[in-house]
Amino acid sequence: MTVNDFIPKEAYKTSANGSVTWESPSNIALVKYWGKKENQIPANPSISFTLSGCKTTTKLSYSKKETSNNFSFEVFLNDEKKDSFKPKIDTFFKRIVQYVPFIKNYHFVIETTNTFPHSSGIASSASGMSALALCLMSVERSLSEVEITSNYFNQKASFLARLGSGSACRSIEGDLVVWGAHNEITNSSNLFGVKYPFEVHENFKNYQDTILLVDKGEKQVSSTVGHGLMHNHPFAEQRFQQAHNNLSQLIKVFKEGDLYAFINIVESEALTLHAMMMTSLPYFILMKPNTLQIINKIWAYRTETKSKICFTLDAGANVHVLYPQNEREQVIEFIKNELVAYCQNGQYICDQIGFGAKQLTMSS
Ligand code: DP6
Repeated sequence: MTVNDFIPKEAYKTSANGSVTWESPSNIALVKYWGKKENQIPANPSISFTLSGCKTTTKLSYSKKETSNNFSFEVFLNDEKKDSFKPKIDTFFKRIVQYVPFIKNYHFVIETTNTFPHSSGIASSASGMSALALCLMSVERSLSEVEITSNYFNQKASFLARLGSGSACRSIEGDLVVWGAHNEITNSSNLFGVKYPFEVHENFKNYQDTILLVDKGEKQVSSTVGHGLMHNHPFAEQRFQQAHNNLSQLIKVFKEGDLYAFINIVESEALTLHAMMMTSLPYFILMKPNTLQIINKIWAYRTETKSKICFTLDAGANVHVLYPQNEREQVIEFIKNELVAYCQNGQYICDQIGFGAKQLTMSS
């Protein structure tokens, strides 16, 4: 597939108005995307677990307008007008208009809610941008003169979501999703996420992710700025190569179910991500003292109990605690007894692997 495959070849039907609702999950990267080229092309391939409970629901209502010279939309979060979201959506529309030209002909009302608190420090861009991209694809499908296959629908939704936020392209379908070309992974692409195509051991079935909310404040450095600092970064090339190697190693790990090898790769990826931030110019630190306290507690618990618990981090201070389903009871007990004290207001979210986005309603 090339970018040209996503430019519609046929004229659209005209439809006066309609609405569509999608819910789309967040995802947590195991091999991290950190660094990008022009047009949201990742500097290295990444892979993520799709989450189940942390998701965004977006209703997109569209009505035909007279002129087609600019974008026209309103955004609501939890029924409240959210003008602060408009610039990001405007940038998104500018990036995607050549692939979904109908967006100039309609006025949109975007109504969105998240299952997780907005100010939790959990990135809503992956679930939010993927939900919006899916809604736009449903509109395209209802306007299209030609049949849109579900494979094309999902690929193009992921392609569009990527142009909104890179990690969003991994939230469309599948429990394990790869984004970025990797020479051992069939059909992997820089343009969109694909379902991980190989065997996955049942050790990874229903894998758990408990998200410890260490710091719910606004990040001092956004992911977009952080990605930019990988240009001319002294360790960039080695880092990008390491991501390729880690993904190669994970193929065997997923097949054989070797949880110790999994832990080594996942924790190394998380710490490398933050090491890249600490060695950027300018450098910055997104972990908080409680992030480190939690990491040390997890390591001590693992040594003591031989648990397969491990952690990963996003571009923030929160900690994702990952563990197999059969350890759920003990680990939750450990979290309650020893880790909750390091969470802001004692808050944490229990989640697990999910399977992707769902269309909830459509009327046209
Ligand atoms: C650390 O997808 O938020 O979570 O493409 O600029 O929107 P933009 O960045 P974003 O970056 C996510 C970075 C990460 C790692 C990952 O999810 O792979």
